[in-house]
This record gives sequence, structure tokens and C-alpha cells, in this order.
Amino acid sequence: ALRSFFVGGNWKMNGNRESLEQLISTLNTASLDDQTEVVCGAPSIYLDFVRSSLDLRIGVAAQNCYKVAKGAFTGEISPAMIKDCGADWVILGHSERRHVFGEGDELIGQKVAHALQSGLAVIACIGEKLEEREAGTTEEVVYAQTQVIAENVTDWGKVVLAYEPVWAIGTGKTASPEQAQEVHEKVRAWLRANVSDDVADSVRIIYGGSVTAANCRELASQGDVDGFLVGGASLKPEFVDIINAAR
Ligand code: G3H
Repeated sequence: ALRSFFVGGNWKMNGNRESLEQLISTLNTASLDDQTEVVCGAPSIYLDFVRSSLDLRIGVAAQNCYKVAKGAFTGEISPAMIKDCGADWVILGHSERRHVFGEGDELIGQKVAHALQSGLAVIACIGEKLEEREAGTTEEVVYAQTQVIAENVTDWGKVVLAYEPVWAIGTGKTASPEQAQEVHEKVRAWLRANVSDDVADSVRIIYGGSVTAANCRELASQGDVDGFLVGGASLKPEFVDIINAAR
């Protein structure tokens, strides 16, 4: 394939040492498609612990970070700290950061720039809300979000784009394979027109929003769906089946 499959698990604010140890042991002993890149997004307070117990064939991501290396920013963590815990990735612009915590495109762009400059790889998230889809503005919304991300990317080799329609996140209402493919195809065309052919061909665009073991294979069969960002199901043994969806 042109692009290797990528499956991210976003644990969000879930788990404790005991439950994460169990999940990690399931992942460490599972048979995983070695053609698929796997990354788990852990709560920041557990990054060190997760990195030290999770098999090295699986990457570790923080779920957010701030836009500078250090300073008087109470409660925040920097890419330098994430790297110091041994993690190589950060999820930025997740819909919960955007819509629960009010992060705007400008801040997300600054975070993307600083994380990449600091040597982290970035899972950058985009996606429309239900009212935006119903108003017919899905494309406009995801193009604008992608543009701000693109303006801040220095190395596309270290970026994965996650398309997560907000109405599909944690709702059990998965986008249909056709709905996902349609937006992924358009975002790739946007990259072709506004960045380069090479970036359009090589950047993984992954889908997130109520992905399960039951629906992942049909989604994975779509030409522009290069993997998943999985929330709820990434905390369960079925995450292994989702990792192996392209096998
Ligand atoms: O980052 C993951 C997404 O927010 C999807 O979450 O799989 O629980 O719908 P979900």
C-alpha cells in the first residue's frame, strides 16, 4: 500500500494503574499486524508508567500539550516533558480540546508548530459538528481546520491527520464508510491543491468516531481511510481487532 495503516488509541481521561496494567498486558501479548503503526494516547500523569510497561512496538502519545517548552503555565505540560517521559507523539486539536476546553484554531496551530519543532510527531484532529454537517458546511469547516494545521507543519512525515466528525464521537453513531471516505478524499484533494502531490499521497488520514471491532473492517476498506483514532474501544481487548483491521 501507498500508506501504512495507522491505529491510535485515545484513552482520554480513563483508567488507573490497575486497569491500564491489564490493558497493557493484553496489548503486549497480542498478535498485532506488524504492517500497522500503533500509538496509545495516555493521560499525561501516566505517560512515564505507560511508556515503561508498554511493548516498544507500540508508540505512546500525550493527549495534549502547551505551545512553549517551559514557564509559568500552571497545569500545562510541554513537548519536552512528553519526550522526557519517552513518548514520541501528541494528539492535538481533539474535538474535546476544541469544544469542551475552548481551544481555537490559532492556539492549535501554535501547538502543532511547537510540538513538531520539539521533535514530537503529531496526530492533528479535524472534524465538523452536527449542526455544521446539517448546514452543509462540513467541507468549509474541515478545510479551514486543515489549513491552520498545514500552515504550522514543518515536516509532514511526522503528521497524521485524524478526521473525527464530532457527532460520531462517543455517540455510537459511526460515520458510514461512504461518509468517511467522502471527507477523507476531499481533505486529500485539499492537500494536493494546497500543499503538494507528495504530501497528499503520503499523509495518513485516519477516521475517529465510534470505531469498533464490528465496523472497522468496512471503514478500513475505503481507499482514503488509512487507519483509526479510537476512543472507547481502545480501552477494551477489541482494540486488538481494530489494530488488525487491515490484515
Ligand atoms: O479520539 C477518539 C475519538 O474521540 C473517538 O472516540 O471512539 O469513543 O467515539 P470514540
